[in-house]
Amino acid sequence: MSQVVRQLAPQGPAPAEVAGTAFGRSVLAGLAASPKTLESKYFYDAEGSQLFDRITELEEYYPTRAETALLESNAAAIAGFAGPEAVLVEFGSGASVKTRILLDALPDLRAYVPIDISGTHLKKASAALAADYKVPIVPLHADYTAAIALPAAVPEGRRVGFFPGSTIGNFAPEEAVGFLAQARRLLGHGARFLVGADLQKEEARLLAAYDDREGVTAAFNLNLLHRINRELGGDFDPAAFRHEARYDAAEARIEMHLVSRRDQRVQLGGRRFAFREGESIHTENSYKYTSESLARLARQGGWQPLAEWRDPEGLFSLHGLIAP
Ligand code: TRP
Repeated sequence: MSQVVRQLAPQGPAPAEVAGTAFGRSVLAGLAASPKTLESKYFYDAEGSQLFDRITELEEYYPTRAETALLESNAAAIAGFAGPEAVLVEFGSGASVKTRILLDALPDLRAYVPIDISGTHLKKASAALAADYKVPIVPLHADYTAAIALPAAVPEGRRVGFFPGSTIGNFAPEEAVGFLAQARRLLGHGARFLVGADLQKEEARLLAAYDDREGVTAAFNLNLLHRINRELGGDFDPAAFRHEARYDAAEARIEMHLVSRRDQRVQLGGRRFAFREGESIHTENSYKYTSESLARLARQGGWQPLAEWRDPEGLFSLHGLIAP
């Protein structure tokens, strides 16, 4: 039935228009590349953002719990590090759950600036926070990997950046340095930066975190193909791909792939892409750091590492950086 409906009323833009959107161009380029790739920032449409929130609650996905506990048990020290009357700027704020711990610890904040690529997430999270906190909220709907400026409504006061969730690990190291340097320019001289990073550990533990038993991470990864169908009029059969998490020890990174279950062709934007059985689309990396490797990265990005908080199990670390 849904097949017929789709043929009669195609979803998404006409073939020629696919290349007219940033998402379309990115997908066309990624599928034409060898090996095939898709950019992970496109995971976060409304559906993907919801699935991501479920990932953070999974038994196997320890980073969220570990980082939340770290923020709670070190709230006073973190507040001291941030200093008085600061402006908190969060990169990729999502549901802003961890933010509440900082807002509780920093009662004299001048403003909170959540930056997120998902407009739905941003609106919902800002409304929920506004109901519970007096701090002025200045949301910025933007892709923080692009060169951005803070809105004019952001008041004076020391900028304190917040980049939790080990999202730094989703950049290749040289991209992470570029991001850190850009954040340094955005936040300015004297700024502070709180950066959460997942730590290197036993492979089985890492793999389980990216391949849960319930299949939520698989659904999150596969949603990218559904999104291409929905928004770009692609004809991916998501059931013909499976989610796979791999650990590359030499690169110290988890990789997420969508592996073709058979030889097949996919149409998008008037082009055809062939897949061999077992061929994968590489959709995400999650680099795992040590205290030293993260501190080195921070210095390369123009920051001075000043503090590090880590949990007793050594699962996760939170770095306090200063912009000299
Ligand atoms: N940055 C986190 C991590 O790498 C969260 C995350 C981003 C994630 N993309 C993901 C988690 C995909 C699971 C699957 O762990």
